[in-house]
Amino acid sequence: MSYQKLPIFEETGFAIVDSYDQSIDPREWEQLIYVDWKSSGDTRFAPLASAYGDIECDGFWNHVPPKTDKDGVWVPENVALAPILTQRAQEFKTNIGRCRVIELQPNTYADAIYNLHRDDNNRLNPEGTGWIVRAFFNLTDNPDSVMLLREVKDDPSTETLVPLPAGAQVVIDTQRLYHSVWHPGDQPRYCLITSVESNQGLDDWITERHPNVHAQSPQLDPAFVAAAQAEAEAKAAARAAAIAARGLDPRFGDGTMSYEQSGLDEYGQEVMSEA
Ligand SMILES: [Fe+2]
Repeated sequence: MSYQKLPIFEETGFAIVDSYDQSIDPREWEQLIYVDWKSSGDTRFAPLASAYGDIECDGFWNHVPPKTDKDGVWVPENVALAPILTQRAQEFKTNIGRCRVIELQPNTYADAIYNLHRDDNNRLNPEGTGWIVRAFFNLTDNPDSVMLLREVKDDPSTETLVPLPAGAQVVIDTQRLYHSVWHPGDQPRYCLITSVESNQGLDDWITERHPNVHAQSPQLDPAFVAAAQAEAEAKAAARAAAIAARGLDPRFGDGTMSYEQSGLDEYGQEVMSEA
């Protein structure tokens, strides 16, 4: 048994599709009700669909009863505030799970490398059904920001950078690719993230929008990359040492465990208190 996966993701694990004309829409994301993500104060989320319709953003598997990342329940308060965002999340004609707007504060390239992680979307997902991937709709105009995607966590040669101007739309197998966002600047970035099941409906949605499985990545200076990589690895090593000093499993935080196990949340934020 295995999962139903879409051929479009075989080569690179992601598909960039036609941009959405974000400029014509009101900035609905500014009105939403946000919640902090666990112990982290930096990143906030505004759920449009959660496990049971409450204003919270925990993984569906952490609820009672637990469920996989499908059958998200619309959050009435935020749906009422963001009818266009809700409509966009409903375009897929497939089962959707978590759907939320992320508010991400500015960071550095080294931060983004440190935050690289894989999601755990398919926990509890029954084999034989569709593999759950995630759609990212960039809302704010962040032409200098990029989504980092890597096949191998600490190997920059496997990296792709996906630019994030307003309206950028990319669907990513986030359980295969390590990912995070490098967001320079002085204002938060907002993005609508939706968990979607791989099936014909999703395939049609992607195909209709002229998918490209390669990105127009900006070129980075190799010395800049190497310095940031070293900074991120040093930070990770220091964190691993701190975890070991607390008598916890030394594998925490080295990327071989899922984010709940590692003490990082799915956005790479530290959740030390829950490790
Ligand atoms: Fe993620």
